Amino acid sequence: MARATLTQSGGGVQPHLSFAGLVRQFPDGVRALDDVSFDVPKGQFCVVLGRSGSGKTTLLRSVNGLTELDGGTVRLNDTEMARGTLRAIRRRVAMVHQQFNLVERASVAANVLSGAVAEVSGWRVHLGWYPETLRARACAALHRVGLDEIHLNRRAAALSGGQQQRVGIARALLLNPEVILADEPVASLDPAISREILTLLRDVARERGATVLCSLHQTDLAREFADRIVGMRSGRVVFDGPSARFDAAAEAALYENTPAVVSPKAPATLERSYGCTPL
Ligand SMILES: Nc1ncnc2c1ncn2[C@@H]1O[C@H](COP(=O)(O)OP(=O)(O)OP(=O)(O)O)[C@@H](O)[C@H]1O
Ligand SMILES: [Mg+2]
Repeated sequence: MARATLTQSGGGVQPHLSFAGLVRQFPDGVRALDDVSFDVPKGQFCVVLGRSGSGKTTLLRSVNGLTELDGGTVRLNDTEMARGTLRAIRRRVAMVHQQFNLVERASVAANVLSGAVAEVSGWRVHLGWYPETLRARACAALHRVGLDEIHLNRRAAALSGGQQQRVGIARALLLNPEVILADEPVASLDPAISREILTLLRDVARERGATVLCSLHQTDLAREFADRIVGMRSGRVVFDGPSARFDAAAEAALYENTPAVVSPKAPATLERSYGCTPL
């Protein structure tokens, strides 16, 4: 697909996050990202939709360097993601996970404070010695997500799923990120709680002017919360537009059950590894 223009993505606003020609091919030949290019303006709530395996997680992980790329560039403002800039970029980007990724046996406070790992030294994190300013920030973040002091010393495992994701969001807010990556942040929650969590995520991002890149499976929630929807199939962007344009036809085209585009390398690799005969 042609590179999404800034007019499509944000009305001529400077891109905050920029993907140009991203390619990620795994050794078995699967192209998780296949020439992905689009720009996200500052403050946009951009939802990535697509069937399982379409490349959503791989795309999100390219922003904080958790996925290596075989081609293309990721930029945050003027900074290009590279080995030398990885640390600086990670300070500006936070992630919210599907399974919350909390240390269940640790306290809520310790989990929120672990969001400072990019800023404080490893031994401090290990010993739980955080400066007072960070502790105050952690309390403020916890308040902002609707939890209070009585939750601070509880073990994360003792909280409900919705509360655990609130802790996940508080942890993400700790260093006041410019970009929040949310990888299916409500996949483990019931519909009512999912709405609460997405409302919270949208509101805290708006307050801070943070850009959100959020993968979802629920198209109704995407329509409700997204400023813009990017639809992926087999590692390619096949839809890009405001949520109002993501109509039934666009949804059907994104999810219809036609064969996925498979890299020509895949059968040969399978054959070699397992002695399979291509059908
Ligand atoms: N580490 C890996 N090694 C090999 N293949 C991988 C790896 N990570 C992802 N893939 C493959 O890359 C493709 C895209 O995976 P990805 O996790 O990005 O999809 P997704 O859209 O997030 O799927 P889901 O909705 O199930 O989370 C899939 O075919 C997946 O099997
Ligand atoms: Mg995924």
